[in-house]
Amino acid sequence: MKTLLHGGDYNPDQWLDRPDILDEDFRLFPLAGVNTVSIGIFAWTRLEPHDGVYDFGWLDALMDRLAKAGMKALLATPTGAKPAWMSQKYPEILRCGPNRERDLHGARHNHCYTSPVYRRKATEINRKLAERYQKHPALLMWHVSNEYGGECHCPLCQGAFRGWLQKRYGSLDALNKAWWTDFWSHRFTDWSQVESPAPQGETMVHGLNLDWKRFVDHQSLEFFRTESAPLRELTPGTKVLVNMMGTYPGLNYWNWAPHVDVISWDSYPRWHNADHDDVAEGALTAFVHDINRTLKHGQPWLLMESTPSQVNWQPVNRLKRPGLHRLASLQAVAHGSDSVLYFQWRKGRGAFEKFHGAVVDHAGHEHTRTFAEVAQVGSDLKALAHVQGTRVPAQTAVIYDWENRWAIDDFAGYNRPERDYPAAVSSYYRGLWNRSVGIDVPNQDQDLAGYKLVAAPWLYLVKPGTAERLQVFVENGGTLVLTFFSGWVNETDLTHLGGFPGPLRSLAGVWAEELDPLWKAQTNSAIPSPGNDLGLTGTYEVTTFCELVHAEGSEVLATYGSDWYAGRPVLTRHKVGKGEVYYVAAQTDRRFVDDLMAALVKRAGLTPVVEGLPPGVVAEKRTDGTTDTVFTFNFNGHEAAGLPPFGARWDVKN
Ligand code: GLA
Ligand code: ZN
Repeated sequence: MKTLLHGGDYNPDQWLDRPDILDEDFRLFPLAGVNTVSIGIFAWTRLEPHDGVYDFGWLDALMDRLAKAGMKALLATPTGAKPAWMSQKYPEILRCGPNRERDLHGARHNHCYTSPVYRRKATEINRKLAERYQKHPALLMWHVSNEYGGECHCPLCQGAFRGWLQKRYGSLDALNKAWWTDFWSHRFTDWSQVESPAPQGETMVHGLNLDWKRFVDHQSLEFFRTESAPLRELTPGTKVLVNMMGTYPGLNYWNWAPHVDVISWDSYPRWHNADHDDVAEGALTAFVHDINRTLKHGQPWLLMESTPSQVNWQPVNRLKRPGLHRLASLQAVAHGSDSVLYFQWRKGRGAFEKFHGAVVDHAGHEHTRTFAEVAQVGSDLKALAHVQGTRVPAQTAVIYDWENRWAIDDFAGYNRPERDYPAAVSSYYRGLWNRSVGIDVPNQDQDLAGYKLVAAPWLYLVKPGTAERLQVFVENGGTLVLTFFSGWVNETDLTHLGGFPGPLRSLAGVWAEELDPLWKAQTNSAIPSPGNDLGLTGTYEVTTFCELVHAEGSEVLATYGSDWYAGRPVLTRHKVGKGEVYYVAAQTDRRFVDDLMAALVKRAGLTPVVEGLPPGVVAEKRTDGTTDTVFTFNFNGHEAAGLPPFGARWDVKN
């Protein structure tokens, strides 16, 4: 039977002295339409109160009760937070900061992922959990740890880093070459001289910084694989997942995707924010949903956390306006989620998250606005059960690449404060999102054959193979959009020689000779060539970045309007094989990106899910090949397309 999961983080381990509250939870679950809970996420002290002394009594009772109620558990391994006794007994498990100072016990997500002791303790408790619950009817999937993140600079991690580098480069000579270490006499003559980046030490060797990020990702993934080994061994048929954090820069989720059975992520949009409108937030949220769906090549994913009302960690934590919770929940489903799960079921009484939104408030009953909206989503999900497991077709792709972001965030020069790679990519994403054509968000390593239109904004770090893949895509009839900041460095952060965009130069048909960054108050403009066949009109504003390019066999479609480079190209088109490449040389306003993407969608012959929707209203489709479920969302604070403010609807078409 098909079911969409509804529920979320449930922490009865914080209420073990209140059996009356636990009884209430089980009365309230069905009223909210909740069928699944994530349990045990931070319960290590309750499960192992002393070293090697375990207490599973409360969890046994909870699992049995869930099964009796016909509910399911996403059962967590507790390794996201360690017990105080463990930090005290084994100080090596405490993380060291970049300044080499060791943390005191506190907070969470703070263990050394190299420490053999922590790996042993994690594996032991996970084995116990797997042994105990492997055949339990309530066990649905393993929720491993929680939001892996951060880094450790302890001596154990330094040793592991050096070992990882030796494997990667083979010789110190190769490493010195890859990192350009003759700069400032940074050449290493012994592996033991290599240290992770440190505020009181090295921060300026970009190749080192990049490899440190790769190592942190690798070592965290190794830790995950180590702690999951007993689960894999004892419950081979049970899915294993980790809850990811969107575009979190600390890990490269593309490396994780093959090692988890289902992608899940924690989505906390900043609705009703002062610095941008909810349509923009809707686009940003869609962008990250689509990254998560693309990570496993279109396989449905799980919305693992979201707040039913407000969070507690933004500078200002606004409530979701009436209707918005339903809109956001159904938006996730429309982008391929097979769940709507929350943090959390019930508000705790103390400590940091006591004012974080939850389904059940401190008032303790179901007669609240939030509870009613959650219950509404519960009944929507029941009505939508047929979409479980279905796909989201995508005709287009926008490339978002973690390693590229690491390199962009790090380099010195040009205009530092305004350098926002996720914003650059999501602005092109939004141009397509407005057209309701279905978008995947791959990294630069993926095959592009299934798409008709691909945008790769700010593809600064170009790895071996990428230019070739893009070339084949275009030659076969694809439309490619590139921008300034493309093809500057290779995979170890050494610049490409022979003129930017480096390996993309012949494909783009431009040579980018210089880049002029602007101060905040300074602007230029982009003037479309009169009668251009894209229908670009008027004057578009240019800010922040102005690249000065030469058209090399490409056609110029817009030029700078002012300054000493007035008349030089802002937009070019290069025909290659059966396809074409557009190159945008400047940071343009949103109208330009929207007009360009709208024109290219038409030119590439793409069909929107729903035609003619007004601004701020978008449609998404899930399909099993015969039955389409078409969702329409109004992200405007006013009525549009027959939908109320923040309204959502779906239609099933056979
Ligand atoms: C993260 C964590 C949760 C909780 C929420 C609060 O996503 O995984 O445990 O702290 O944030 O928004
Ligand atoms: Zn460490």
